[in-house]
Amino acid sequence: MRLLVVGGGGREHALCLALRRENPDAELYCAPGNPGTASIATNLPIAVDDLDRIADAADMYGIGLTIVGPEAPLARGLADRLRAEGRAVFGPSAAAAQLEASKAFSKEVMRRAGVPTAASGTFTDLGEALGFVDRQEEPLVVKASGLAAGKGAVVCPTRREAGEVVRSMLGDGAFGEAGRVVVIEAFLAGEELSVLALTDGHDVELLPPSQDHKRLLEGDRGPNTGGMGAYAPVSIATPELLERVRERVLLPTLGEMQRQGTPFEGVLYAGLMIDRGEPSVVEFNCRLGDPEAQVVLPLLDGGLTDCLESIASGRGVRRVRTSARAAVTTVLAAAGYPDAPVKGAAITIPADLPSGVTVYHAGTRLDDDGTLRVNGGRVLNVTGVADRFSDAQRLSRDSAARIAFDGRQFRADIGWRERDRIGR
Ligand code: AMP
Ligand code: GLY
Repeated sequence: MRLLVVGGGGREHALCLALRRENPDAELYCAPGNPGTASIATNLPIAVDDLDRIADAADMYGIGLTIVGPEAPLARGLADRLRAEGRAVFGPSAAAAQLEASKAFSKEVMRRAGVPTAASGTFTDLGEALGFVDRQEEPLVVKASGLAAGKGAVVCPTRREAGEVVRSMLGDGAFGEAGRVVVIEAFLAGEELSVLALTDGHDVELLPPSQDHKRLLEGDRGPNTGGMGAYAPVSIATPELLERVRERVLLPTLGEMQRQGTPFEGVLYAGLMIDRGEPSVVEFNCRLGDPEAQVVLPLLDGGLTDCLESIASGRGVRRVRTSARAAVTTVLAAAGYPDAPVKGAAITIPADLPSGVTVYHAGTRLDDDGTLRVNGGRVLNVTGVADRFSDAQRLSRDSAARIAFDGRQFRADIGWRERDRIGR
């Protein structure tokens, strides 16, 4: 079997490792990959948005299945391109990827499908947007409609602050193209939950539910980031709640995507707010979460490759087996992250990290002399897997603390809500 993973972050390292575990003999390629994927796959030095060269590589290496990690190449039509050339690819079309790439689009789909989500308005005109803000209750949330690497949503305690954010996006062009359309929505109270579903457009196979930590600082303070850590499973995600998510969120959304002629296949990621057992959608993504993948994939116990392959070749969803263990990942971020990450610091990873710990590479590079260096905002993801949540948490946190580089930032409290709930 010849497999190609597109992407070069922690999510793709976790994907490569999950595929390698299931397929020890497969020829596995990763474009562009990173120093972590290099030990389990053949890295191809091709940027994720270079659609021509990815298509050429799929041809040249005789790839049987391509799995696309990040949203940007999907939104640019990588899956369409490969499918048009007769290749099996796991990931949505550009039209379906709009569910993530345009919040205005996803809000409209949810409205038509009757999916629970915050009341909102969509605007391109500054005056109209400011008028709308004036009529809303506080707090409220202002979002750039386009792709903004997890940083395009601003929770505003007051109408005044919301007005300023709207002005910066529609007036001053902060967020560039992504912010030319803004979505203004009501603030949702509750606890966040990420539900990742593998789908062929009709049926869904849910992966273990997970929870991200978006804020930079411990205690969920500081600016929003791409995600500073995650854990899975999450005890608030009872079988009843997940059934509700399936029936009220995932299936109606897929049905509406079918009806409007943009069927969605790939990973449908529902970013939810759970309030007294009721889910509302905060956002949809069209791919595995990052860092959610780094806790969800290590819990899978067989059947992933089969399911991805089956969906990609039009044969429907297959069941994926899940272990009863727990996983926690801690993100090590560069100095200056998220605004202005500083690259270049040398990284030291101890050779004697305990078993149960996997260090996924996200933003790293390897010098010719073998020195590993910081090469992005989120640098490494340290995942601990154990039978008990508290052991997974300890493994992740203590190992993260032992990895050193100048300016390292990390949260030692990943999973604090679960810890408070289950107390061990
Ligand atoms: P988004 O880019 O839509 O995923 O938003 C990023 C983060 O902002 C979310 O993960 C939430 O933490 C927060 N957020 C977004 N929308 C809302 C909302 N309506 N109510 C409360 N928090 C929100
Ligand atoms: N962890 C949030 C995301 O992948 O969008």
